[in-house]
Amino acid sequence: MLRDAEVLAELMTRKADHTLPQAFYTDPGVFDADMRHIFYREWLLAGSVAEVPKAGSFITLQIGAYSVIVVRGADGEVRAFHNSCRHRGSRICQKDKGTAPKLVCPYHQWTYELDGRLIFARDMGADFDYSQYGLKPVHCRQAAGLVFICLAPVAPPFDALAEQAQRFVGPHRLDKTKVAHQSRIVEKGNWKLVMENNRECYHCSGAHPSLCRTFDDNPNIAGSGAGDAMEDPAITAHHKRCEEAGLPSRFTIDPANQWRFVRVPLIGTSESYTMDGKLAVGKLLEDMPIKRAGTVLFFHYPNTWNHFLSDHALTFRMMPIGPTETELTTTWLVHEDAKEGVDYDLKRLTEVWTATNDEDRKVVEENQLGVNSPGYEPGPYSPVQESGVMQFVDWYEATLRGRLTGRTVIAAE
Ligand code: FES
Ligand SMILES: [Fe+2]
Repeated sequence: MLRDAEVLAELMTRKADHTLPQAFYTDPGVFDADMRHIFYREWLLAGSVAEVPKAGSFITLQIGAYSVIVVRGADGEVRAFHNSCRHRGSRICQKDKGTAPKLVCPYHQWTYELDGRLIFARDMGADFDYSQYGLKPVHCRQAAGLVFICLAPVAPPFDALAEQAQRFVGPHRLDKTKVAHQSRIVEKGNWKLVMENNRECYHCSGAHPSLCRTFDDNPNIAGSGAGDAMEDPAITAHHKRCEEAGLPSRFTIDPANQWRFVRVPLIGTSESYTMDGKLAVGKLLEDMPIKRAGTVLFFHYPNTWNHFLSDHALTFRMMPIGPTETELTTTWLVHEDAKEGVDYDLKRLTEVWTATNDEDRKVVEENQLGVNSPGYEPGPYSPVQESGVMQFVDWYEATLRGRLTGRTVIAAE
């Protein structure tokens, strides 16, 4: 198990434009460094407002050692708290999701308001000061209905991300959606292998027969950004058509490479991720002006990528479990008034990405098994097909190196 100084030394041996040294995909010390320096410091996707639709709706998340509650208050505000009772520390919410009028600790029934205030603690004496024992808050912000949390004492800037999310995702009106389906799978692979696999479509034609009916594996789409894509007529024509309909579309990338938005076309006349390319949901998302708007691709490192279509949206939340184990939660969102069996068929809505997730799980697990071998040696990324992977790995290296050398400065907003 490597210590931080050894992780840094190993990071410095990385060959540019090559996969990472083996320890970065296998070593418990690197995993621990990833959690402390990245997952406990960065903004992470927790879910969307549709997952906490009314007062008292909550979800819980496990981020390394931290257990976190995200809950909607009686005032409609979505907040996040450490899921650790201020009495003797028991977890308060034990389920993945639910609804509760108050947050009651199951151990000795200390009771908290949905905004975290302690309101009941039996037999604590006359001088007991309730105001000192509210739930400890976790930073919680929204970007066009996507809920992000941050465990750091001082959170990194968020406003630029929120602003671009509003431009790209705003018209999909996540505040007017409901959860049609949610799946949770565990991939036996390091979280970086899961993200690397997501950031290229080099593997798509071989791995994803269902997805490739509608999703174009053009590397200008999966790749890292503007560049060649802005010269690609299939992409620029789509951008023009969508922007004329009022949908911001052109590649917009964080200068620090942590996130990107772009609206890309689907193949031919396809409207959605279905086996026949036709809409999966009869009722479009609230403010969508056209059916054939392709999909907004949005990733934010370290833990999410997303698709926003005319008729539904897909959020993907990734949480590392261990050095070679990662949880992936996928959520399908449809218009809040869409009725199952009338406006959509659940199997038709979910079959393409259920299959795609499982196919990705298999390639990631095989990738991990091969990387575990003493015969593994970092290999070169394709400059044509894997610019997105290089961009992710460069972000990872710069972020971790900055933290390990103490050179990262978090600008105040
Ligand atoms: S630990 Fe929560 S009430 Fe005692
Ligand atoms: Fe894939």
